[in-house]
Amino acid sequence: MGRGSVITVYVPGDAGASSLGADRVARALETEAGKRGQQVRIVRNGSRGMYWLEPLVEVVTAAGRVAYGPVTVAQLPKLLDAGMLDGAAHELRLGDMNRHPWLASQQRLTGARLGVVDPASLDDYLAHGGYAGLQNALGMLPAEIVRAVTDSGLRGRGGAAFPTGIKWQTVHDQRAGQKYIACNADEGDSGTFSDRMLMEGDPFALIEGMTIAGIAVGATQGYIYLRIEYPHAARALARALQAARQRGYLGSDILGSGRRFDVAVRLGAGAYICGEETSMLESLEGRRGEVRVRPPLPAIKGLFGQPTVVNNVVTLATVPVVLARGAAFYQDFGVGRSRGTIPLQLAGNVKQGGLVERAFGLTVNQLVYDYGGGSATGRPVRAVQIGGPLGAYLPAARFDTPLEYEALAANNALLGHGGVVVFDDRVDMARMARYALEFCAVESCGKCTPCRIGSARGVELVDRIIAGRADATRNGAQQADLALLDELCDTMFNGSLCGLGGMTPFPVRSALQYFREDFLPGARAPNSIAAGPAASVKMG
Ligand SMILES: Cc1cc2nc3c(=O)[nH]c(=O)nc-3n(C[C@H](O)[C@H](O)[C@H](O)COP(=O)(O)O)c2cc1C
Ligand code: SF4
Repeated sequence: MGRGSVITVYVPGDAGASSLGADRVARALETEAGKRGQQVRIVRNGSRGMYWLEPLVEVVTAAGRVAYGPVTVAQLPKLLDAGMLDGAAHELRLGDMNRHPWLASQQRLTGARLGVVDPASLDDYLAHGGYAGLQNALGMLPAEIVRAVTDSGLRGRGGAAFPTGIKWQTVHDQRAGQKYIACNADEGDSGTFSDRMLMEGDPFALIEGMTIAGIAVGATQGYIYLRIEYPHAARALARALQAARQRGYLGSDILGSGRRFDVAVRLGAGAYICGEETSMLESLEGRRGEVRVRPPLPAIKGLFGQPTVVNNVVTLATVPVVLARGAAFYQDFGVGRSRGTIPLQLAGNVKQGGLVERAFGLTVNQLVYDYGGGSATGRPVRAVQIGGPLGAYLPAARFDTPLEYEALAANNALLGHGGVVVFDDRVDMARMARYALEFCAVESCGKCTPCRIGSARGVELVDRIIAGRADATRNGAQQADLALLDELCDTMFNGSLCGLGGMTPFPVRSALQYFREDFLPGARAPNSIAAGPAASVKMG
């Protein structure tokens, strides 16, 4: 141990890592190193997204960063005695994370700096390629910036996958005294955490993306609509916004260009529907989060009635990559009309949950087995739910499906925000169908009947179907109820005003289509979802 010199140690300050003990490890590290006469500088970086290894501690040695994980407070004294601060051998030693196959096989573009940089340091951001995109954008005409985003093929990562360049073009073309950039950081989907990781681990990327968007469309004010359940992200953003303002990356004269842009954070009180863009705008304006009837589109009449770009965190944090490295570079990744990379979030009953950023086209099999290592329980994987609580379930027989927009659509599924939740063979799919309808009933904004009433009737209907499974003589009535459930899905799909009511049929119908046996009399006894580890729990 190089006593005397200060050793830099990275201990993630990410909410997921903190929930696994990273804060305690950081405190104990300082104390234990002090006892040994060694000064340490602890950097609270973001997570690299390997949650089964958190808290993942990295020590800066003469030979580079050396990782250990998962580190517990109880193990720390022995780890230090073994020479951890010199990068010495230990059973928890992981070595250079950049060479770890789980990370090295990824194509991290949007998440390139996650776990690498100090999210509180603008200098670190600059040293790792930050603000190169904005520098380029400042030398371009607004229409050229919009064109670059269009040519990159970037589509919105919040769920609807709408082409980002087209949305920007619409706002760009509006004549208005005031335009806005509204970043959707509500991240309500179960099993998703890429927005959170980016805001906590690389907040300047989002701020840079929003600034580029503002310059491109002529907006001078941005808002980040952040769910209140993300206090770590709120702190990271507040720190980064202050640093960006101090150094002229935000404000009335960005880097001396004469362009103006600033960003404010608004906390949402936590309703799933506030992630829907028009509800989000209502909430941002201080009203109850209720869906607005479209048209007009937010791009024409959005926040406070002004033209507004509404984009997801991942979408906006990807924009600097496009502007720094070029549209052709970005659109070279991916397949078909799914261009670029997607940060997939692997959660649920899986051995190695976390963030996997790859070009579109990775199959479910590759994600669940090559990255996930199969189920955490060691039992066969029976299903995955893709795209949040309103996403479809796919059975193991369809795990060769590539994770890209069109291939999933061909399977009546969607990619949504890229969350993939894994279930083992004990999952009761009738109960999962019930859960989808119950979720809709609880989260419905109540504005339209198919969603407000349909979801409640759907719960009752599935309850009857579940009860009917124990009665083998009920087959005819059961079939009639299943047909009625299908009809209800039709009504909700076609008659709902927004995606909450309109997409709830996806999990219900996919459960019916691929796992029909779970709905029929004689179906195996409902197992306990609760017995499985964190079946649909949001990571972090
Ligand atoms: C019920 C519902 C919830 C949604 N929740 C979110 C969310 O939490 N975050 C998000 O970015 N988009 C969410 N969306 C999608 C947004 O309405 C919108 O399409 C998106 O913010 C646009 O940004 P993008 O083009 O960058 O994806 C939701 C949509 C619906 C229908
Ligand atoms: S579908 Fe549901 S959440 Fe959407 S507008 Fe109708 S009632 Fe509201």
